[in-house]
Amino acid sequence: MPPSSSSPVNQQDVLIIGGGAAGLMCGGTLIKKNISVAIIEKSEKLGKKILISGGGRCNFTNLYIEPEAYISPNPHFCKSALSGYTQWEFISLMEKHNLTWNEKNPESGLGQLFCDKKSIAIRDMLVSECDGADFYLQTNIENIQFKDDYLIQTETELLQTKSLIIATGGESIPKMGATDFGLKIAKQFGIKTIPFTPALVPFIFNQNDLKRYFEDLSGTAFFAEVSCNNQAFKEMVLITHKGLSGPAILQISSYWSFGDEIKINLLPNIDAQIWLLKMQQVNGKSLLKNILSEFLNKKFSEKLVDSLINKNLADKTLGEINQADLKLFANTLNNWCLSPSGTRGMSLAEVCTGGVSVDEISSKTFEAKNQKGLYFIGETLDIAGWLGGYNFQWAWASGVACGIGIADEG
Ligand code: FDA
Repeated sequence: MPPSSSSPVNQQDVLIIGGGAAGLMCGGTLIKKNISVAIIEKSEKLGKKILISGGGRCNFTNLYIEPEAYISPNPHFCKSALSGYTQWEFISLMEKHNLTWNEKNPESGLGQLFCDKKSIAIRDMLVSECDGADFYLQTNIENIQFKDDYLIQTETELLQTKSLIIATGGESIPKMGATDFGLKIAKQFGIKTIPFTPALVPFIFNQNDLKRYFEDLSGTAFFAEVSCNNQAFKEMVLITHKGLSGPAILQISSYWSFGDEIKINLLPNIDAQIWLLKMQQVNGKSLLKNILSEFLNKKFSEKLVDSLINKNLADKTLGEINQADLKLFANTLNNWCLSPSGTRGMSLAEVCTGGVSVDEISSKTFEAKNQKGLYFIGETLDIAGWLGGYNFQWAWASGVACGIGIADEG
């Protein structure tokens, strides 16, 4: 329905659609610059994904933020915003609000920072930074028109603004209200988009692979290096009843496309061939499965000995296995190639790849290059970070850069 000319118009300097991580951060930045802001959120709560993040403790940033941790067709796009608002600045903001934090497993070197309190503390901090903004919750937008200014028709009101920010996130977890709204608006204004694809998501496997490799092992975890398309992650892998999950799998899923193989190095710190040939000499009477269970779960070791290569190695001692078979088995331990049949999809994805094309957006202000006054921030853009606090840091940094960009324009 086009906006009716008789509707009362509520005018704001800036209107943000989406009251999630990026929208709230941007709102707070604008308020500090004395710019009037309204935030329209279709859900009944602000920052729903913040609330459920990090197992309820919000992995709000990472000690090692670097552009290489972001997947985008233009690897340079994220640099300006990330250097303009760093993890240390977000930490300072938390400290200003007396929020303490901790690094999860510092010995892992992964640099993942979590809130000591529940995630709601971070959401509330961001909302309090927006003090003075108008909030429209449970508000659906019927249409947006552009005639010098942007006219935004909600179910009940007509809003007008010179600067419209789209911060509606990606499509993961649709049951929480995630939508492709950002893509629709970009298309309306002739801006290129790339369909959202689930990322940081578990893999599923076909029935043959499930039976052969993973049957009865659901819940088993192991440390491995998982690689695909020239990327590798050394972290935990978790066997599920449908396939594989765990941090290493979630990370590599962002680089995986349908039909690609993934490679799993089950003994990432060991040359399995040198190790097993040596063990064959010194420990020939031991069963292969027992030797393997030095490093891998006993049940999983039994399964691997049985199924990893098409040779009958179950219940064989090392001395009974010929060298060619032992070498093949060892090589497969270090280079196990598997073909996922798909992913668990948007319903279990933590983020999305794809989004509004970064070619068409200023990396400094996040304004569309060919549509004055229209901005896209956060996950709506075609940029996705690694697991571990990188995605929130992108939401904070892009929100701040956009807010400062608008304020600087006057
Ligand atoms: P975000 O999704 O936060 O906000 C978008 C907002 O727009 C939502 O409030 C939505 O309701 C609203 N919206 C959508 N369509 C609309 C419309 N048409 N009109 C009005 N409003 C609309 N990252 C991380 O770094 N550390 C972590 O610990 C986690 N943990 C985590 C757990 C789970 C289960 C998920 C699904 C995701 C994470 N993430 C994460 C990822 C992180 O949540 C995500 O990258 C950011 O929230 C993205 O911020 P945005 O503001 O771009 O979108």
